[in-house]
Amino acid sequence: MLANGGSTSLPIVHAVSREYEAFPGSRYALPADDEELQRLILQHNVLKGVFENKILLAPVQLDANGAVLEIGTGPGRWILDLADSVDSSIPMVAVDIQSRMFPASAPTNIDFRVESATHLPSEWTNKFSLVHQRLLMAALQIADWPVCLREIHRVLRPGGWVQLGEFTGWPAGKYPGKPCMEKLVAMYRAMGDARGLYTDCTQGIGKMLAEAGFVEIQSEARMTLVGKWAGEAGVANRINQIGVLRGMKTPILKAGGFGYVGSEEEFDRLLEGVEKEWDEIPGAQKEFVIFWARKPQV
Ligand SMILES: C[S@@+](CC[C@H](N)C(=O)[O-])C[C@H]1O[C@@H](n2cnc3c(N)ncnc32)[C@H](O)[C@@H]1O
Repeated sequence: MLANGGSTSLPIVHAVSREYEAFPGSRYALPADDEELQRLILQHNVLKGVFENKILLAPVQLDANGAVLEIGTGPGRWILDLADSVDSSIPMVAVDIQSRMFPASAPTNIDFRVESATHLPSEWTNKFSLVHQRLLMAALQIADWPVCLREIHRVLRPGGWVQLGEFTGWPAGKYPGKPCMEKLVAMYRAMGDARGLYTDCTQGIGKMLAEAGFVEIQSEARMTLVGKWAGEAGVANRINQIGVLRGMKTPILKAGGFGYVGSEEEFDRLLEGVEKEWDEIPGAQKEFVIFWARKPQV
């Protein structure tokens, strides 16, 4: 039985205009194309804005003896930003499961390469002073998270820091006065469940970090406001968040719409309705949480 009692699970035929990178075993739900790249740049700026322009909360001392690793770098905006603000002798590695969004040019101290979060090279044990990973919630399955955090622990040198950033998932349940939002959230969560994704990963990251062996676990959360009612920042984040949902169109339609939409037109109309609700009814917001933790010295 589908989430809302619907009966169809046949793929919904639609013209796939976005580029999705198919890599073996991946459940990644977002595309890797120029539109997504632009969205990720916008999102980087939104997140910087709510954290007072800070991109690094872990209290790590970076120097030429300690390398930095970023996992799931996408277009690399975070690591490019970091590289801009620290000594250029600090070696940096930025990895992603696919290279489509890698920047065309980058400082020579950053090495962009294709690697998976769940299987980092064996020669990287005890190598990095800092590992950063942001927004893999649409990529890692529930069982991948402990594997990934153990890998990060392994590649950090003793005393090194990890910093993770994730959005809190749209909460399930009623959205009074916002019928489109209520339907959209139910559909988005059904897609996450069908793919085995950890939609509410922010609730489990602290515990999983401790289980992976990290200490001094801390976090800071900020609300990002969504919609015209919240001014320029709200409009930017509305464009960002609608971009995430648009990016999930093909995975949702290919899965048959989970009983919430029966055609591409219905999907598009639902998103238009959500956008209108965000703009016209004050209050939509999405929490972003940054976690940081240390690998013990011994
Ligand atoms: C939502 S984007 C975030 C990009 C970047 N971290 C940022 O915050 O702008 C997620 C990225 O994770 C990558 N990804 C998905 N599965 C991965 C895996 N198993 N290992 C490494 N990267 C992965 C995707 O290709 C995509 O570039």
